[in-house]
Amino acid sequence: MALIAPSIIAADYGHLHTQANDALDAGANWLHLDVMDGQFVPNLTIGPGIVQAMRPIADAHEAALDVHLMIDDPGRFINTFAQAGADVCTVHVEACTHLHRVIQQINQAGMQAGVALNPGTPLAALDAVLPLVDLVLVMSVNPGFSGQQFIDRSTPRIRTLRRQLNAIGSDAYLQVDGGVKPTNAKSLVQAGADVLVAGSAIFGGSNAVAENVNAFRAAMTLKA
Ligand code: DX5
Ligand code: ZN
Repeated sequence: MALIAPSIIAADYGHLHTQANDALDAGANWLHLDVMDGQFVPNLTIGPGIVQAMRPIADAHEAALDVHLMIDDPGRFINTFAQAGADVCTVHVEACTHLHRVIQQINQAGMQAGVALNPGTPLAALDAVLPLVDLVLVMSVNPGFSGQQFIDRSTPRIRTLRRQLNAIGSDAYLQVDGGVKPTNAKSLVQAGADVLVAGSAIFGGSNAVAENVNAFRAAMTLKA
């Protein structure tokens, strides 16, 4: 069973506390917090203040705060997000001049280190750091907005990455983010993903958040 990480980018910001609680009460495992700077991606979202605001809710559910930095030169803000309460800090390969150094910074700040790959970036970009990370995030949309169409070529990339992680004996999480729905959840887990990020599939639409979380659980337990 994969972990479910609702992405609050798609939540009702006027009721963030309630929406996050509802998702974790329903059994979601992490809160995925998409930080965007309007530079690395064409959108602006939240900062360390929201991470800090989510910390008590995460603690109350023994859930992790999974911060996805879609920002240029993220090394500038590693300690800021650590102090705000992030448990996992993921940076983009494409946004780091000194990726190896940023991973060291994340670990020195006491967080688990994640690296993210955009759909246009070859998996080989991870080769030098794969043994050093705690999480790899395969973007299955071009980052910036919730509600986009899943890019089908992401699934073979997940399968290849799973094989690479197994080959080096890594226990890093393999996370997929973008266009993830109950309808593709099982195939993504079968391909090797073990953390599913979902924004609009959890917080969008007319169903209750709890129903949407349950739909993911049900989809992953479906007989093959
Ligand atoms: C990058 C963001 C989104 C978000 C998920 O754009 O990282 O992918 O988390 O949004 P949905 O699940 O609605 O595609
Ligand atoms: Zn994300």
